[in-house]
Amino acid sequence: MSSTVKPLTHPSPILGIIKAAAFEHSMLSSHAFNWDGPAARAAIEKWYTDREALDMQDPTQRFFVSVATSTDDLGSGNDETIAAWARWGVPHTKPDSTNEQDEPEYKRKKKELIENPPTGGRPELLGAFFREAVAARRKYLNEERDYVLELIATSPNFERQGHGSRLLKCLIDKAEADNARIYLEATMAGLPVYERLGWKTVDEVRLKLADYGIEGDLEDVFYIMIREPQGPGNKEQKH
Ligand SMILES: CC(C)(COP(=O)(O)OP(=O)(O)OC[C@H]1O[C@@H](n2cnc3c(N)ncnc32)[C@H](O)[C@@H]1OP(=O)(O)O)[C@@H](O)C(=O)NCCC(=O)NCCS
Repeated sequence: MSSTVKPLTHPSPILGIIKAAAFEHSMLSSHAFNWDGPAARAAIEKWYTDREALDMQDPTQRFFVSVATSTDDLGSGNDETIAAWARWGVPHTKPDSTNEQDEPEYKRKKKELIENPPTGGRPELLGAFFREAVAARRKYLNEERDYVLELIATSPNFERQGHGSRLLKCLIDKAEADNARIYLEATMAGLPVYERLGWKTVDEVRLKLADYGIEGDLEDVFYIMIREPQGPGNKEQKH
């Protein structure tokens, strides 16, 4: 089995399928969506895929996949499977107008989609997460200079085989080449790998699930993390 990281330029349903499988058991997604039965699950996968298809029209967003290639015993087969994917934003000039009429169509459609998640879940919980994420970005993110890891997900069948780390290293190489920081909001699952690759937690966001009608005293935590560029120039400056 070998693997390659490559850019993805066309939307594919596999994005939603992997995202749903990767996030199904996360505290936020397991409570924010209704996962009950194949039809409900298909609706979540489609919602995720539709959102990514809109993001693919955004010139600031980049998609990369990690493809696993298995070779048969004779060494002739080359079965390729997308094992993981990531999307990140590149530094860009802030739009100077907030006039809704100037807003590109894909942005308008994306807002509409996000406001209308699949039925049967808890949209107020999702909404709270988006609000907190926006507030943290206002505080810590410089979108004109920073890269932003928007999403990374590995298919559970391919976990712990290095796909996530390879995608992150590809992002790190690009950010280092620009001497740029990388901002992200981490789940608990992502925290160890981000720390290992040089990210530091700058803040935490806590959502009390009881505030959204969920029994018990569960709390979901997101870590606001930033990776400073660590190229030779930056290391020298510190000494
Ligand atoms: C986080 C994630 C992208 C890592 O992907 P991956 O392809 O397994 O990554 P790697 O093989 O490079 O492993 C990196 C590390 O992730 C952690 N990890 C991955 N799968 C794990 C699992 N099932 N249980 C616990 N830790 C796990 C480990 O720390 C692992 O390092 P190790 O194997 O040396 O201990 C993947 O687990 C995932 O999609 N999780 C659910 C979605 C999510 O939380 N995404 C991150 C949002 S911030």
